[in-house]
Amino acid sequence: MSDCLPIIAIDGPAGAGKSTVTKLVAARLGLLFLDTGAMYRAIAWLVLEANLALDEQLKIAQLVSQAKIVLNGSQVVVNGVDVTEPIRMQEVTSKVSAIAALGVVRAELVKQQQAIGAKGGIVAEGRDMCTDVFPDAQVKIFLTASVTERARRRQQDLLERGQGEVSLAELERSITERDLIDSNREISPLKKADDAVEIISDHLTIEEVVDLIVNMYRQVA
Ligand code: DC
Repeated sequence: MSDCLPIIAIDGPAGAGKSTVTKLVAARLGLLFLDTGAMYRAIAWLVLEANLALDEQLKIAQLVSQAKIVLNGSQVVVNGVDVTEPIRMQEVTSKVSAIAALGVVRAELVKQQQAIGAKGGIVAEGRDMCTDVFPDAQVKIFLTASVTERARRRQQDLLERGQGEVSLAELERSITERDLIDSNREISPLKKADDAVEIISDHLTIEEVVDLIVNMYRQVA
């Protein structure tokens, strides 16, 4: 074992509560948190801004290699523009899975994520943290919940963000579609790592999930 601080890696599908849980676990343990979905969203935002089509791979590769993404707590800045709010809009959400499936995008972002985690001491969340980015993480979690529950939480989330009421049926449809793309892409599909602990959060409070993970960390730290 190296002298690095431990890493907690959390994967799971859209809307399972990863962001909330990750931030709370990081705060409780005094670790940094890394929202890798925000990085894919920042690239999706850039692709949309530049009006690029998904098959313009060379241009997308160039755009990713030149993109400077700065994560500062929950704030996300790309090429000097604060995109914290815009990357959560439906336009980005509906395109991000397809953009995150591109090899050119993943290769660059995975490199950046591994550099951020090189010294450990982070809680990293995404889809491939346990399987590819931090396979040697000391704590590996697959956090999931039923599609119905995830749609209900996302609806609440959108309401709280003032983005209006979207029907549960519509949210279930879009979550199912994203799950399908994320789980079936060729490169690093979303799946539970063999050695990850699965937490199904339907009937757990956020605090209960956080406690479970904090206790797992304390056993290895
Ligand atoms: O967690 P999120 O909804 O913000 O993630 C946005 C998208 O980015 C999601 O559809 C899948 C993709 N993603 C990924 O492919 N790999 C990651 N490590 C994180 C997110």
